[in-house]
Amino acid sequence: MATEQASIIGRDTVRVDGPRKVTGVAQYTSDFHFPGMLYAVPVGATIANGKITKLDTAPAENMPGVHSILHRGNIGKIFRSIPGPGFSGVCEERRPPFEDDVVRYYGQYIALAVAETFETAKAAADAVRATYAAEKANVDPQLVADDEPDEVMTTFGPRKRLDSQRGDPDAAFGEAPVKLDYTYVTPFETHNPLEPHSTTAVWEGQRLTLYESSQGVVNLRSVLAQMFGLPIEQVRVITKFVGSGFGSKLWPWTLCPLAAAAARQVGKPVRLVLPRKMMFHAVGHRPLTQQRVRLGATREGKLISLHHDYIYTRSMLDAHHEDCGEATPFQYSVPNLRVSFGRAKRNIGGGADMRGPGRVPGLYATESALNELAHQLKLDPVQLRILNEPKIDESSGLQFSSRHLLECFQLGSEKFGWSKRNPAVGSMKRAGLTLGWGMAGCSWVAARFSAAANVQLRDDGTCRVASATQDIGTGTYTILAQLASERTGIPLDKVEVELGDTSLPEGPLSGGSIATGSVVNAVFAAADEAIGMLKMVAISTSGSPFVNHKPDELEFKDGKVFLKTGGNSLPFADLLQRAKLRLVTGNGQSAATFGDPNPKFSTQSFGCHFAEVTWQPEIARLRVSRVVTVIDAGKIINTLAGRNQIQGAVVMGVGMALLERTEYDPQNGAPINSSLADYLVAVNADAPAVEVHFLDYPDKEINQVGARGIGEIGLAGIAAAITDAVYHATGVRVRELPVKIEDLLT
Ligand code: MOS
Repeated sequence: MATEQASIIGRDTVRVDGPRKVTGVAQYTSDFHFPGMLYAVPVGATIANGKITKLDTAPAENMPGVHSILHRGNIGKIFRSIPGPGFSGVCEERRPPFEDDVVRYYGQYIALAVAETFETAKAAADAVRATYAAEKANVDPQLVADDEPDEVMTTFGPRKRLDSQRGDPDAAFGEAPVKLDYTYVTPFETHNPLEPHSTTAVWEGQRLTLYESSQGVVNLRSVLAQMFGLPIEQVRVITKFVGSGFGSKLWPWTLCPLAAAAARQVGKPVRLVLPRKMMFHAVGHRPLTQQRVRLGATREGKLISLHHDYIYTRSMLDAHHEDCGEATPFQYSVPNLRVSFGRAKRNIGGGADMRGPGRVPGLYATESALNELAHQLKLDPVQLRILNEPKIDESSGLQFSSRHLLECFQLGSEKFGWSKRNPAVGSMKRAGLTLGWGMAGCSWVAARFSAAANVQLRDDGTCRVASATQDIGTGTYTILAQLASERTGIPLDKVEVELGDTSLPEGPLSGGSIATGSVVNAVFAAADEAIGMLKMVAISTSGSPFVNHKPDELEFKDGKVFLKTGGNSLPFADLLQRAKLRLVTGNGQSAATFGDPNPKFSTQSFGCHFAEVTWQPEIARLRVSRVVTVIDAGKIINTLAGRNQIQGAVVMGVGMALLERTEYDPQNGAPINSSLADYLVAVNADAPAVEVHFLDYPDKEINQVGARGIGEIGLAGIAAAITDAVYHATGVRVRELPVKIEDLLT
């Protein structure tokens, strides 16, 4: 094993797949080509509520180059899917495409044009005429919880609407000397990965291969097997590169079975790449949330009570749970607490996980409320949080496996220069600009999904590591290479990584920022097994210098075998060649901790953001100029990729605070700003200077390296830090995201 000094873990490591990307060799889903392949373009409903009364496909069918127009009458049987063990059978919109004539949201697929070229398919899709019996669509952004029982069904099973409760929150709030009661709103947001959703279906007899831009090939395979009534081994999903997903590609959407059913029907491979406009319809969005937060406190700033009651939107079809209260019960110490939720159905496509689902909108609300309480108490917001630092996870009574939030606050304050803050509104100036400073804490779940990996050591001195996980742009290829290199001492450039294929050992979802933490033990165990086999070869191959020794007398380090007592070493490639072996191999597995009903610890990552905005009241220009973020996520395996993840998330946070919002037209229920021109995301010109610091406390509860996940935590809390900075600069408290210039024109 590599020595401490030379370890590849915890270092800036450039992407091993970088050259493949910049030279165009990397194959994204729509880069796979097949003889005779046809192109499909869906027809989306142009109403959001009602029935299809007539579908006129004849003009489209008669266009040259059109193969067929598929619809309810000719698509063939597609079954529904249901959750299975682990993360299998998971999807948000269970209704198979074209199952009935009912339209429940704008853009719901009602037909599919299949043609020889994409352009022809697009023209044919445009030529399909639907007649509807339309009803009024409900896309109302004002939410009142639907009348539902105390326990409701969600994507992952039944769930009590009372998330968490302790003490007597109502009485404690009633008697609290200092109180606050505000409602915070986060808008519908739509994922905008650079690569649109893309799927190519290929049938060979009763075997289906789906090339898909997916964050979870193993789960997707299980869903497809159910929907087409196939044994799991007859379905294969391949995802070599993903142009990001942000959660929209975590669970399968209806375009996957649609492409597969079309390919089955026409007897040729079919490719379906969504036009950008359709990215706003049927592949998920972050639900709108309306969160009432009530805080009770002593005059000194000790929290007495916390109510977090939230409502979010859901579609007519899905059961996505937007878990805004996920962090509320343990983020800070408070004896009396209630967290509860309600849902409001709307005529919109399925809601979905979007980077930091639940906890990101949730922490925006609770961290904003804390900032407002600090202002009310005339307390420094950092001090208020220090005053309410818990000793344990007060919701479960468990110790935290590792919590260093106070150190995050301290380091962040220092790096940002927080002690120079004058809390008076509009009091801080620089170069003619008014400055606003704000801060917030954050956290994110840490756990493992189950993972399996295979490692091969080969006679040319190379190593291959394989697992059916995905790299969604976050650096998983590099992480797997680093882990294999760390355990074998084989240099990175001699490590080959294979992922994104369900024919490999089952790997984790790229979701919840959990993939990295999940693969560590599996890769190490696989490497150890391969090394064990190598030692057996060393003692049993004639001509080997280690014949007649025992395996445990041998050491394997830096790719060489030698006796622990010293003496000559032998590169493993030489040994394999002497033994006439191409390779030795090992498998490794690691079990899930996610969802463990009896955990020993509360496992979370923590952090904080300090944000600076500049404000020019004369021209109403608001900019986020500077952010310092400190993250406590255990051991960071790749500090370069880790920093990039946090920087990207902070920039996305600028979008969340100031720009992003999907607007649904109250007349027809269509998302109006459904293009990259009209849906505003933060771009380079909006990006502040982002300084990222990591604490370095390995968390061995998660894996042998002590690495917790990283990524989503960078988006948690940042909007609350920015909106507090906006208040500090302008004196305007905005509680509905995004902050708009017109909010600030007082
Ligand atoms: Mo992330 S929203 O868990 O893909």
